[in-house]
Amino acid sequence: MFVCNCNGIRERCVQAAISRGARQPCEIFHQHRCKAQCGRCVEDMQAMIDSLARPLYQTQC
Ligand code: FES
Repeated sequence: MFVCNCNGIRERCVQAAISRGARQPCEIFHQHRCKAQCGRCVEDMQAMIDSLARPLYQTQC
């Protein structure tokens, strides 16, 4: 399933970017060597960051 249709970024690719340290949608675009175009995916990316990255922060404290 694509999260970003403009750049062809799939859900598993967003998850991988988050696991490599992306904490903002722009960092996910950067890891895929592209930029936001229409911006419709940014909210979904942020939701994925919030749900996947937050548990990592909580375990580090
Ligand atoms: S869907 Fe990601 S920039 Fe358009």
